[in-house]
Amino acid sequence: MAIDAVDPSAGEEPRPIDLLTGLATTRAIRRYTDEPIPDDDLASIVWHASRAPSGSNRQPFRFLVLRDGPRAAAAKALLGTSFRRGWAAKLRNDGYDASVEADPTSPKARTAAAMQHYVDHLESVPVVVLVCLERYRDASPFEGASVYPACQNLLLAARALGWGGALTMWHQMVETELRELLAIPDEVALSACITLGRPTGAHGPVRRRPISDLVFDDGWGETAPWAVDPDGTRHTHWRR
Ligand SMILES: Cc1cc2nc3c(=O)[nH]c(=O)nc-3n(C[C@H](O)[C@H](O)[C@H](O)COP(=O)(O)O)c2cc1C
Repeated sequence: MAIDAVDPSAGEEPRPIDLLTGLATTRAIRRYTDEPIPDDDLASIVWHASRAPSGSNRQPFRFLVLRDGPRAAAAKALLGTSFRRGWAAKLRNDGYDASVEADPTSPKARTAAAMQHYVDHLESVPVVVLVCLERYRDASPFEGASVYPACQNLLLAARALGWGGALTMWHQMVETELRELLAIPDEVALSACITLGRPTGAHGPVRRRPISDLVFDDGWGETAPWAVDPDGTRHTHWRR
């Protein structure tokens, strides 16, 4: 399979798209139009998210959906503040500010511009989903294993229907305020904050490291000669 062949920007794509196309083209989408997500699509997105696996099929994931109700507006305002703080810290810590200064047309500078736009418009993102984990036992480092598959299902379902999203952790700085505003009980963890909407641009193939960096055969670091990227696969520039 040539990955370029599944680039939906090449033309009209079916709805829903097929599973493998979705897996290869579900990027983090951070620029949205104002178009609201209709109930039917949102219902389908959360239904498919809830088909995700979890330990013993306990299904501890919960989806707190913020659209345009009064509390949603207040929550988005809190999140806007928090996202801007999160991005401001990353801008400095990960050297984005230096890249923008050195070459405003570089890929890193363009990412920085997209991120700035994202956090500056958080209040008008059509849908925000707080993905929560209702604990049934003490907190554990592994509990996310029963909630993050549902997050990815949610993003894939959105993608399949022509919507886009991004999983973030930038709710954490206002978690206390969100808990109070939205009456989230103490035993519920806020595992992720996912934004959703209609992408302003096209979806497209994700870029990752060469598959040979990521797959070993029969021992750590041992090359897997059968694990090859399909023709046309684009890679990230970042290498270890
Ligand atoms: C655990 C996790 C945490 C993330 N946190 C953030 C975040 O706080 N803010 C954000 O804009 N994106 C966040 N992302 C999205 C990643 O930046 C994105 O998935 C990654 O850069 C790959 O992008 P791509 O799929 O478009 O290639 C997060 C993703 C994951 C899986």
